[in-house]
Amino acid sequence: MKRIITYGTFDLFHEGHYNMLKRAKAEGDYLIVGVTGDRYDVGRGKLSVKDSLATRIENVKKTGFADMIITEEYLGQKISDIIKYDIDTFVIGDDWRGKFDHLNNYCTVKYISRTEGISSTKIREEEFKINRIGIITDKLSDNQIVKESGLIAGVSVGKVYSDDQSIAVKFKEKYGLQETADSAEELYRDSDVVFIRTDIKDRYRFTKDALQAGKHVICDFPFSLDSNQQKELWDIAKKQNRILLDNIKAPYSQTFIQMMWAVQGGLIGDVIDFNCSVSKKDQDIPYLFYELAAMAVAPMLKILGHNYTNMDSRLIYEGDAIEFATMYFDYPTGKAKINVGNRVRVENQMEIIGTKGTVRIGDNWWKADYFEMDKTDGSSQVFNINFDSNGFRFLLANLVDMVSQNIIETQFFSEQDSRKVTAILEEAIANKR
Ligand code: CTP
Repeated sequence: MKRIITYGTFDLFHEGHYNMLKRAKAEGDYLIVGVTGDRYDVGRGKLSVKDSLATRIENVKKTGFADMIITEEYLGQKISDIIKYDIDTFVIGDDWRGKFDHLNNYCTVKYISRTEGISSTKIREEEFKINRIGIITDKLSDNQIVKESGLIAGVSVGKVYSDDQSIAVKFKEKYGLQETADSAEELYRDSDVVFIRTDIKDRYRFTKDALQAGKHVICDFPFSLDSNQQKELWDIAKKQNRILLDNIKAPYSQTFIQMMWAVQGGLIGDVIDFNCSVSKKDQDIPYLFYELAAMAVAPMLKILGHNYTNMDSRLIYEGDAIEFATMYFDYPTGKAKINVGNRVRVENQMEIIGTKGTVRIGDNWWKADYFEMDKTDGSSQVFNINFDSNGFRFLLANLVDMVSQNIIETQFFSEQDSRKVTAILEEAIANKR
């Protein structure tokens, strides 16, 4: 009996998939189809998949060509599947030509021509609205928005605007964009979402204008150092029914989210101690204390909540700049401590101690792809998230989902979270000592 295997995501099942499965089956007697698992797609950065794994499996099943359906969960699984299922031929579309030649050591590899003119990507682009992102910037140093947008279905980067036109031109050239906008108004007109990455002094103005022009906004945190201005912006966003997102990645980090679920699921008992440190010595642009501190305060609010009973802080200044800060919080059931080093280097880690164990994420926790758990019963475990990126891609994916569902509030980092972080930092600065 000749045994065949093929793999795919099979999202928004279409004729090309059908033809592929039919031809794969015709190659032998027994066909195994590997459907990519949700985590596997996320792990390789494919965040655009619309159908659930159950739906995608069901659609493959309905064709009647598959004798067995398995899920593909990790890189390198193909070789183990080929050995395990004693496969004779591995079949895949010729868009992958050459990419799987290494499997020739284990079975025959056959590339089959694709059905012309159709793909899941094409259907997604036709069925789901593309949100054009306009960029307002005053620096050339960050292309994350350009790079990450390319990996998310439903967004594309359009024009760039800068008060200093020469920066817009250089930005456009550096990151291969199509056009600059001559005015902020032109940028608003030609965008669905405005991404604001400017000095703090200009954020309030641009955010307000963009919201009033009816655009969704992603702006670096905080929009303003004045909490009244912040409230005003949130109010405008609600009135305009537009999304306002702080560009703060930590609450979207997949590692942090899974760790939070583990903690909230009671795996380490009641939380008695939360420690988080952040420093970014290597930045070429000086970080605003607020931006850095928010990275550590936001996870604390997510894990322990907003209702601490007491806060104490110690700030060390050099001139006007805060070089180092320590903040202590008392919660009804435990304590939290946050260290923020601006130029002063601290170990970037997060540790949560519970009555039944400890979880920790090591160096540069906001972009780590694993966390560790040690239990009081002596057992320990490492959780691999299989995703080596900070949360920005997920922030964008969340934005696309919110736009398509016509909702303006996110649970990842809400208006309440944003305003609470600001209030905490204002209090820390006011308590200056
Ligand atoms: N396939 C095909 N003809 C098409 C589209 C896909 O033969 N028009 C094949 C692929 O080559 C692969 C299998 O179907 O062997 C599953 O492909 P998958 O990546 O799930 O589908 P795409 O439509 O290519 O998805 P995407 O656009 O997200 O890459």
